[in-house]
Amino acid sequence: MTYDAIILGAGAAGLFCAAQAGQRGKRVLLLERAEKPGKKILISGGGRCNFTNIGAGPANYLSANPHFSKSALSRYTPRDFLDLIESYGIAWHEKTLGQLFCDGSAKQIVAMLLEECVKADNAGGQVDLRCDEHVTEVAHEDGCFIVTSNGAHYGAHNLVIAVGGPSIPKMGATGYAYDLARQFGLKIVEPRPALVPLTLGGDDVLFRDLSGVAADVSAHHGKASFREAALFTHRGLSGPSILQISSYWRNGEAIGIDFLPERDVNWLLDAKQSQPRATIKALLKESLPDRLATTLSERLGIDTDVGNATDKSLRRAQEQLSRWEFRPNGSEGFAKAEVTAGGIDTKELSSKTMEAKKVPGLYVIGEAADVTGWLGGYNFQWAWASGWAAAQAM
Ligand code: FDA
Repeated sequence: MTYDAIILGAGAAGLFCAAQAGQRGKRVLLLERAEKPGKKILISGGGRCNFTNIGAGPANYLSANPHFSKSALSRYTPRDFLDLIESYGIAWHEKTLGQLFCDGSAKQIVAMLLEECVKADNAGGQVDLRCDEHVTEVAHEDGCFIVTSNGAHYGAHNLVIAVGGPSIPKMGATGYAYDLARQFGLKIVEPRPALVPLTLGGDDVLFRDLSGVAADVSAHHGKASFREAALFTHRGLSGPSILQISSYWRNGEAIGIDFLPERDVNWLLDAKQSQPRATIKALLKESLPDRLATTLSERLGIDTDVGNATDKSLRRAQEQLSRWEFRPNGSEGFAKAEVTAGGIDTKELSSKTMEAKKVPGLYVIGEAADVTGWLGGYNFQWAWASGWAAAQAM
């Protein structure tokens, strides 16, 4: 059978791209390997789907090619997606930091995307969604892509890679996008787990005793910093600020944590004047959970009252508390990574259409491409925006 486009993967990007292309009158075949579409959408945002971030812009994305996301993000914006949500009467709320969630359930987003696919019929197009499909071959002959799936052959002049990245293999995620990229001679930026908990070893292993303790901190790596909660776990560090900074972190590198982002730089020297009888532990307990305050003060090794400590030692303690260095010995890997950083090199793609420059008709959208958003609705916005851009071009 022949279609205008074959889209591999009915996740966020594939579903949205199919609906948009269908509504432009295209006949689209959407092949999904799982038994149902949009599985990651369904579990996202704790079941409420953080479907966009109202402030999403290129600065919120990591890529070897930082300008790449600009065009698509500016042409299909968070406001555009919000208009769509509202046209379906889906109630939503802003949780924090521009993060928009459904009031009800992530199921509403999948239902809306499927309904958008059905609307293709009114525009003279069609979206033929098939699940439980096992693609065994993709051939390219005379400008036509021939996909073999479940033993049947399908042809189209456009093929969209929307199979995502390898994060959470338990949900069926694989590196199939990269196999296809290699087949078509497209370079790959080394994929790595992102938005992932980090593990601690060596001297830092003692912090694992704090499992379950959370604090509002500022996590740093290079020029990146995130002011959100950090959580100590039995394996190391997690919580939003750590997940965010993990996307920037590479094996062997250190991250810095400011445990007292609200405090003035000279707060201990000031306390020496105003509360000379207080210990560092007592002062830390004013802002931090007891167990964390105890561990940090033990590690600082000042057991006298601040009134009796030298200015030099207090200055050193202030500095250490504002940039406590952890050198994670790894991350919890793709098994726990919310997204994959790296992917198909965007230098191979048109930033306007997502089409591969050297393979006309081949498109790469969503997480398969080397564009990774921060935590907080940015990754779905990229899925919508890149899917929209490809759909306009087919
Ligand atoms: P996605 O992974 O959604 O879809 C790819 C599809 O391709 C899947 O349906 C898969 O089964 C299919 N597929 C794979 N191989 C195939 C093959 N060989 N043939 C056919 N089909 C194949 N982001 C956000 O912005 N807000 C949030 O709240 C969350 N929450 C969240 C929670 C959890 C637990 C995870 C793991 C991730 C998130 N994310 C998120 C990230 C977000 O889910 C992710 O960035 C998008 O789903 C990416 O969309 P894609 O369509 O590119 O891939």
